[in-house]
Amino acid sequence: MIPPKPKARADKVSLWRYLKLFREDILSAQPARLYRAWMAEFKTPFFRSYLCNDPELVRQVLKERPDDFPKSDRIGAGLRPLLGNSVFLTNGETWKRQRRIIDPAFEGGRLRDTYPAMWEAGEAAVARLSAHADGTPIEIEAETSHAAADVIFRTLFSIPIEHATASAVFSEFKAHQRSQPILNLAAFIRGPKWMPRFFSAETKRTAGVIRKLIGDLTTERLAAIEAGTAPDDLATKIMTTTDPETGDQFDVDEMIDQVAIFFLAGHETSASALAWTLYLMATNPEWQARVAVEAGELSSDFSSVSRLKLSRDVFREALRLYPPVPMMVRETTCPETFRGRDVKTGSQIVLSPWHLHRHERIWERPDEFDPTRWGTENGKQCQRDSYIPFSAGSRVCTGAGFAMVEGPMLLSLILRNFIIEPDENREPVPVVHLTVRSSQGIWLRLRKRG
Ligand code: HEM
Repeated sequence: MIPPKPKARADKVSLWRYLKLFREDILSAQPARLYRAWMAEFKTPFFRSYLCNDPELVRQVLKERPDDFPKSDRIGAGLRPLLGNSVFLTNGETWKRQRRIIDPAFEGGRLRDTYPAMWEAGEAAVARLSAHADGTPIEIEAETSHAAADVIFRTLFSIPIEHATASAVFSEFKAHQRSQPILNLAAFIRGPKWMPRFFSAETKRTAGVIRKLIGDLTTERLAAIEAGTAPDDLATKIMTTTDPETGDQFDVDEMIDQVAIFFLAGHETSASALAWTLYLMATNPEWQARVAVEAGELSSDFSSVSRLKLSRDVFREALRLYPPVPMMVRETTCPETFRGRDVKTGSQIVLSPWHLHRHERIWERPDEFDPTRWGTENGKQCQRDSYIPFSAGSRVCTGAGFAMVEGPMLLSLILRNFIIEPDENREPVPVVHLTVRSSQGIWLRLRKRG
C-alpha cells in the first residue's frame, strides 16, 4: 500500500494559476516532473528560482559553500515578529557566534542529561492518551503537538506544559500560527526590495505575548543562575556558555530570540514527524507489532534508547516520506553556473527534502514505506547523498540528535502501551502548514495493549 501523497498539478499552468495553487498548498502546486528532474527553473516577474534535486548541487549549497548561499531575508520575514534575531534567521558572523553558544548544549554527551526530562514527557503523553484508548477515533496531531511542546518545556526550563507560563505560550502560539502561516506565499514570491511587509495586528499581538512570557522565564532563570539555584537544563546550559572566540554570553533579549526558535522549531517538527510515524504504524500492523516488542527494551535509562533499532529505522523512514520541513530556500550572492545554466545573483535556490526524498531516479520504490531500505545498498547511498530531513552542513538542525532520541523514544513508549488503527473513513492528505501536516488532521483509534 502506498502511503498518502498529494496529487501533482498539470505540467503547464499559467503563473496566476500557479500562485493560486501555491496559496492553497505548496505541495500540490508542484508538477509531477519535479520527482524526476535534477533541476527546475521557475520564472516570476521579480526573480528566478531554481529547485535543486541533483545531490551534487545540494552538497555544494549546504555542505561545501554554505556561506555563499545564505538564507534569504524574505523567507524569514514572516517569522520576524516572533523570532527576532534568532539563529534560524540570521546569517554571517551573527549566526556563527550564535551557533558557537548554542551547539554545546545539544552535543551528543549532553543529551544524556536531557533524557530524564524527555522520558517524563513521554510518560505524561501515555497517561493522556490512556483517557482515549477506547477505540474512538482521536486526532493524533493535537496529541503529538502537546507531547512535543511538553518535551521542549521540560528539557529547556524544567517545567511541564501544564505550568501556567508554558501552557500560555502553547495556546498563544496556536493563535499566532492561525494569523501568520509560516511558509506563506509572500515569503516565496518576493517583491522588489523596497516593498514594505505588513503583519496583521493579531500576528504582532500574539508574537508580543509569547515573547513577554518567554522573557519572564528567561529573566527568572538568569536570577536563579546568579543565585546558584538553577537546574542544569538546556536553558541554563545555553545561558552559561561563553563564546570561545569573543568571550561573551547571550543577554536576556538574545536568549528570548533563541528560546522562541527552540520552541517553534523543536515542537512543530517533532509533532509532525511523530504523527505521521504513528499513522504509518497504524497502516502497517506487522511493523507496529515488531516495534512494540522491541519497545520492551526501553527504560528511563538513556542507554536503552540505543537498542531501539527498528523504532529508529521506522522513524527515519517516516522522516523520508513526510519530512516536516518540506522545503528550504537560500539565495545566491554571486553569479553561479548550475548544471551548465547561468544562475544570476539574487536568485532563490530551493532545496526540497520533499522531492529529493521521493526522487524516482535516486530511490528504489520511492513512495513505498519500507524501513528495511536503510540496510540496503541503495538505502545507504541515499542516506548519505539524498536524505536531508534535518538539512546538512554547518547549518544543519541544532536539534537533530535530540529529535532522533525523542522521536523513537516516544514512538516506542506509545506502541508499548497502545494498539493503533487508522480511521478508514479519514485518510490523511499531506499539506504544508508550518510543517507537513494533514489537511483534516490524522485520525487514529487507540486501544490498550494487553
Ligand atoms: C523531527 C524533528 C526536526 C526536524 C525534521 C527538523 C528539521 C530542521 C531543518 C530542515 C532545519 C533547517 C532549516 C533551514 O535551513 O531552512 C532545522 C533548523 C533548526 N532546528 Fe530543527 N528539526 C527538528 C527538531 C528540532 C528540535 C527538537 C530543535 C531544538 C530543540 C530544533 C532546532 C532547530 C534550530 C535552532 C534550527 C536553526 C539552525 C540554523 O539555522 O543554524 N529542531 N531543523
